Amino acid sequence: MLILGIETTCDETAAAVVARDEGARSGRILSNVVRSQIEQHADYGGVVPEIAARAHIDLLDDIVAKALSDAGVKRSALHAIAVAGGPGLIGGVMVGVTYAKAMALALERPFIAVNHLEAHALTARLTDGVSFPYLLLLASGGHTQLVAVLDVGRYRRIGTTVDDALGEAFDKVAKMLGLAYPGGPEVERWAASGDPQRFTLPRPMMGRPEPDFSLAGLKTAVRLAAQKAEPLSDTDVSDLCASFQMAAMDIVVDRTRVGIKRFQEYTGNIPTALVIAGGVASNQALRRGLQKLADDSGTQMIAPPPELCTDNGAMIAWAGSERLLLGLHDGLDFASRPRWPL
Ligand code: KG4
Ligand code: ZN
Repeated sequence: MLILGIETTCDETAAAVVARDEGARSGRILSNVVRSQIEQHADYGGVVPEIAARAHIDLLDDIVAKALSDAGVKRSALHAIAVAGGPGLIGGVMVGVTYAKAMALALERPFIAVNHLEAHALTARLTDGVSFPYLLLLASGGHTQLVAVLDVGRYRRIGTTVDDALGEAFDKVAKMLGLAYPGGPEVERWAASGDPQRFTLPRPMMGRPEPDFSLAGLKTAVRLAAQKAEPLSDTDVSDLCASFQMAAMDIVVDRTRVGIKRFQEYTGNIPTALVIAGGVASNQALRRGLQKLADDSGTQMIAPPPELCTDNGAMIAWAGSERLLLGLHDGLDFASRPRWPL
């Protein structure tokens, strides 16, 4: 089975071809083309929806053509067209959805509208053939969620952020310290030479019995500490980054520990894996903390490679294949969804 996956929900224009052999537990990525629009948004310190939607229109046809040629697959050989139907910035989602519908109609193939979060949730099956049920920590610029992944189409969100997303907090801290966008990798780089003990920062929600997250208070505390230390030397910036990253890691590990407990109460099982996904999952400090937690909890940590943790077309194609195998696909009357909880 050959599936094309299209992703346009945020600031990546992406397309990929994934092959799924009969009975296989995981997939084969034949191509995975991602064009980031970071440069177009960098001056604004964040994604500008109108700029993103226009860029998707300009780029998508070429990206799909490249995905097909990289894979050595003709359009007519595709078995289905999958697209992220939301949640996301609605202008961009509509570009991808309209394109995918037109292609499905012209080729007379099934059209599959995939939930973008579901695609992140199922990526560990594409790469590692992880079996259900497992626990997903999804931490990106737009999302911070703990999800019990029970089966295709059966998800239970067991924790989420009540304010900022984790990646958003990294981005905002970077911005207030004058670092480049996107902030996560910059904060991590500066933190490497910093003293994580220098600034005492709060760890909101830690110890609470529900595995939810709150990051706004931490972000504000960094702002206040930075204002107090002004003018900031390079050492101050490094120490602030290190102290923030350490606090963020403590929060995530504590919340995920509670998430594993909730998962066990809910399913009666230890998760087959703790899967981490989203851009923040590439943070090495975070990975170390979660690896230790997984070891202590008697499970394994699975982190798909960074290029599959961030937004991409392969995860959409794979999620499409999972749905198609269950006989699920969508009508051409599908309406793009800016919000689409799992
Ligand atoms: O999944 P992603 O590429 O896009 C979405 O938000 O959907 O995630 C991007 C987010 C940004 O907020 C970025 O700052 C953060 O992930 N990020 C990181 C790191 N690399 C990316 N945060 C912390 N440490 C990193 N190394
Ligand atoms: Zn995403």
